[in-house]
Amino acid sequence: AKAHLRVHADENVAVVSDRLFGSFVEHMGRAVYTGIFEPGHPTADSRGFRGDVLELVRELGATVIRYPGGNFVSGFRWEDSVGPDRPVRLDVAWHSVETNVVGLHEFADWADTAGVEIMQAVNLGTRGIEDAAALLEYSNHPTGTALSDERRANGREKPFGITLWCLGNEMDGPWQIGHKTAVEYGRLAAETGRVMKWIDPSIELVAAGSSNADMPTFGSWERTVLELSADVIDHVSLHAYYEETGGDAASFLASGVGLDRYISAVAAIIDETLDAQGLDKTIGISVDEWNVWYQSRFNDVDKPPLFEGEWNEHPRIIEDEYSVTDAVVVGSLLMSLLRNADRVSMANLAQLVNVIAPIRSEPGGPAWRQTTFHPFALTAAAARGTVLRSTVESRAIDTPLYGPVDELDAVVVLNDAELVLLLVNRSLDEQLELDVDLAGCGALKVVSAVSVHAPAGGSRFSTNTESHPDAVVPVALEAVGLAGDTLALALPPLSWSIVRLA
Ligand code: AHR
Repeated sequence: AKAHLRVHADENVAVVSDRLFGSFVEHMGRAVYTGIFEPGHPTADSRGFRGDVLELVRELGATVIRYPGGNFVSGFRWEDSVGPDRPVRLDVAWHSVETNVVGLHEFADWADTAGVEIMQAVNLGTRGIEDAAALLEYSNHPTGTALSDERRANGREKPFGITLWCLGNEMDGPWQIGHKTAVEYGRLAAETGRVMKWIDPSIELVAAGSSNADMPTFGSWERTVLELSADVIDHVSLHAYYEETGGDAASFLASGVGLDRYISAVAAIIDETLDAQGLDKTIGISVDEWNVWYQSRFNDVDKPPLFEGEWNEHPRIIEDEYSVTDAVVVGSLLMSLLRNADRVSMANLAQLVNVIAPIRSEPGGPAWRQTTFHPFALTAAAARGTVLRSTVESRAIDTPLYGPVDELDAVVVLNDAELVLLLVNRSLDEQLELDVDLAGCGALKVVSAVSVHAPAGGSRFSTNTESHPDAVVPVALEAVGLAGDTLALALPPLSWSIVRLA
């Protein structure tokens, strides 16, 4: 099949925020313990942070990390995780035992070492205004109060200076500890946020939007929460997980279209609310949980149910092993985030290590890159700058979930030095002959052109494992030709590619 892409060199869609390349570390499964933290591991530093995982986090290019949950945060007592006494507690959200060995100070040390910004969530499930205010005062107030001096006594002379604060997590979900109606949550978020901004006016607040676009309350939840809190908050969250179900690969590969529509729907509600309230401000969309996640495997009735078993420390939970297809979808979801960078103020790949993660690690053993690591790392390294408008002409693929979608998905970003093309061929079995019209983009040369697709001898289901960590890696695209203003290349079946021109 053939496809055509035109780059509109003079039409800027949006400037890409560095915060689009965020991720998420929840106290869940082995994200923290034996993920980022494992004293005694051969690569661990004196504080117990795994060096091999840190190296991969840097290579991934994650910028802002949401912490400490997730569902976990809705039952979390933050004060358990600071100071010399660390009570062991039940983590009811994930049916686990939380030792609190890693807490705010340890995570902040890790974040400093990794060079990432912290996005801190407060508990609005079992707790409320007083505790959120206390955590903020503890974290950000310089000195001279009981809480700020407690932080100093616990080893942090200077405030943590955390700017980004999530007002609870997925409060629309009946699975959430302290699940609320939109009115209950909207009021609590507004009043908590107001007090937090009185303590530190420099912070940015994220209100919890819908847990997914199929929630029965999707839309009305956002409308009510925004109505009650728009004057206080700076971002509203959107969570989105995708998986291939019932062999419907076509819809799965069009997940980016689903995300585009979801973002547009939330953006319209934000605009309506700001307009109705006459508010002269912007509210960004914080896609602070997104990924491929096989929830069907998690809920599999043939597996021992997590919530009825023994209570253990850092059990293995949702350690999904990602395939080539999943990598292509992760790449195209990032393309959707870029395409909507005028509305998406930040985004967090959920999660970072072991739990539905681009990085896997084994206790005492190695750490490795899942297939999904590659499109994320390559995009985060190159797709900074400005998204340019581009138009696609390609065959339509019929999808049960989203109707007809283009066989070619494309996003173009202009950074300081390069023009970057992100390209997906959604066909399962056909190569796509693509020509790209670069008229007006100036004199260019191909710097690199690489692709993630099924490896020789493998299939779209190939994965990276402990014994074969590099089974799926980006490979050079062959036969990339630039003649005048036209770039010609062949995209392999079911592939995600990145072409850098300078
Ligand atoms: O990322 C895993 C879980 O997914 C998070 O804890 C929760 O917020 C979401 O449902």
